[in-house]
Amino acid sequence: MCGIVGYVGPRDVSKVVLSGLARLEYRGYDSAGMAISGEDGIKRSREVGKVADLARMLETSPLVGKLGIGHTRWATHGGVSVENAHPHCDSSCSVVLVHNGIIENYVDIKEELLSNGGVFSSQTDTEVAAHLLGKIYSGDPKEALVELYHRITGAFALAVMFADDKDHIYCIRKGSPLIVALGDGETLCASDVPAVLEYTRKIVYMGEGEMACLSREGASFWDSQGRTIEKEVVEVDWDLSMVEKGGYPHFMLKEINEQGAVMRQTLTGRTEGNVVDLSNELSWTSDWARSIKKVHLVACGTSYYAASVAERVMGLFTDLDVRVDIASEYRYRSIPIGEDTLAIFVSQSGETLDTLAAERFAKEKGARCLAITNNGLSSIAREVDDVLLLKAGPEIGVAATKTFTGQMAVLYLMALYLAKLRESLAKDEETRLVKEMTCLPYKIEGLLENSGPIKSMAEKYSLARDFLFLGRGFSFPIALEGALKLKEISYIHAEAYAAGEMKHGPIALLDRAVPVVVVMPDDELWEKTLSNVQETKARKSPVIAVTTVGRESSLKDVEDILTVPSTEPELSPFLTVIPLQMFAYYVALARGTEIDQPRNLAKSVTVE
Ligand code: F6R
Repeated sequence: MCGIVGYVGPRDVSKVVLSGLARLEYRGYDSAGMAISGEDGIKRSREVGKVADLARMLETSPLVGKLGIGHTRWATHGGVSVENAHPHCDSSCSVVLVHNGIIENYVDIKEELLSNGGVFSSQTDTEVAAHLLGKIYSGDPKEALVELYHRITGAFALAVMFADDKDHIYCIRKGSPLIVALGDGETLCASDVPAVLEYTRKIVYMGEGEMACLSREGASFWDSQGRTIEKEVVEVDWDLSMVEKGGYPHFMLKEINEQGAVMRQTLTGRTEGNVVDLSNELSWTSDWARSIKKVHLVACGTSYYAASVAERVMGLFTDLDVRVDIASEYRYRSIPIGEDTLAIFVSQSGETLDTLAAERFAKEKGARCLAITNNGLSSIAREVDDVLLLKAGPEIGVAATKTFTGQMAVLYLMALYLAKLRESLAKDEETRLVKEMTCLPYKIEGLLENSGPIKSMAEKYSLARDFLFLGRGFSFPIALEGALKLKEISYIHAEAYAAGEMKHGPIALLDRAVPVVVVMPDDELWEKTLSNVQETKARKSPVIAVTTVGRESSLKDVEDILTVPSTEPELSPFLTVIPLQMFAYYVALARGTEIDQPRNLAKSVTVE
């Protein structure tokens, strides 16, 4: 949800900022811009479209200087236009800034500034902050930033340059993520680590209400009251190859193919001899585990579907009252939450504002909060009582794939561990499931190796206007995820229903033009889902069945079959989701859409 970068150092500033923006483009790609402070003051360049469009513009009109800031935008306030593209400045261009987040009280501030003669050139909340800062600033950046911090509300990560200070970039963080990266004679700031990996792995994660001053020599930090603070420098273990395509045409395809490895990584150190043990990461005791009565799983989008699978798993192994909620709805329902509640927040980025707000709400009500995230230093990870990390590595494709598998894996392990602590999981059940989980990486890899036929099948269906996805039990969230993947990257309308619900309405949509994808692995619901396949066939819709190898003979009259290896029924989601991801990928490829950066989307959604 917008990416920001800042650089001060000896390199070609414009190149460093551009390369950083390109690595943050997954956060938004409506427009891009940069400002560089040089001998003749601060100059800006802004362009509608992608970072590559900005790069082309800079080829003909280069910007040079010693420090610069850049932005890639996901539009919120104001349409997609050059005027609304960042960086923004005050009327005399004495202050130039880039912003990720939303300034909630911008209307009131704008009115005040307008009544004092202010003239604005964009519809953005960000320009208001630039004008306000320009008005506050009287030569002391630190003092001005502290005052700005207290005047604006909402979520913001800001990188700021002052025209009369040609050596420093200043940052403020509240709500939206921001890191400072310390290189050798150069310093950067960015919304996320991939933007800086080319230059350094020494990172400082800025906390809530913290501010920084960046120079070539390093960075200094202070809190919202202006008091100097010492920050920990973390050496991240990501390397550049993890944020590159590694020979794949798209990040999404690379990340789909990494899922066997992700599963293996997730199990490492958490399972040994078919036993699950999370005691190194969770301080949960048996007494505490037995004291809780409720489990709330809360998330958005794909993470919500992973949580929905977990809801079903937890229901199998415990007698807890388990529910799953969409994060943006959780606070607006009168659900009893208290000390007897374990609230689990699933978010690959750890920055999704809806999920963060839900977590704050549950915490206030006394729940014990657990985050399941791919970013151990994210906002959500810092706020909760317990964290379980996905070991998925950076996910750059906007459509989540490998983190979905990682989330399901961690949620399964957590469900088994909690059931063990509550003494509601039989030993042979644990053995059966953990043993099979350790086989899943090989099964996922085998499935991916043999996924060739999906391409031609996807091409055949790529002109369809609508799709229906069906599944029962564990396969219902997978049908939802399959439909979400397809609509996100191919822009085809796709809806998913619990297979049993089809006859209660959606069946009216069916005809030859509406392909129906049915997720039906070999489990106790197979026959029931088969009836839904027959009902679908009777309405002449082509059926694509995702089923377990060996079941093909009972599906002779369906148009296409995608098989997955057999597994324990409760673990089928790990396998059935793979052909659906590949199907969505190849349909999008056939339609020529922007697979890694689908329109209107952003990877990290830091607005409500
Ligand atoms: C879909 C997708 C989104 C995210 C959702 C939550 O492919 O990526 O639906 O799952 O925005 O994001 P996180 O998990 O970062 O909270």
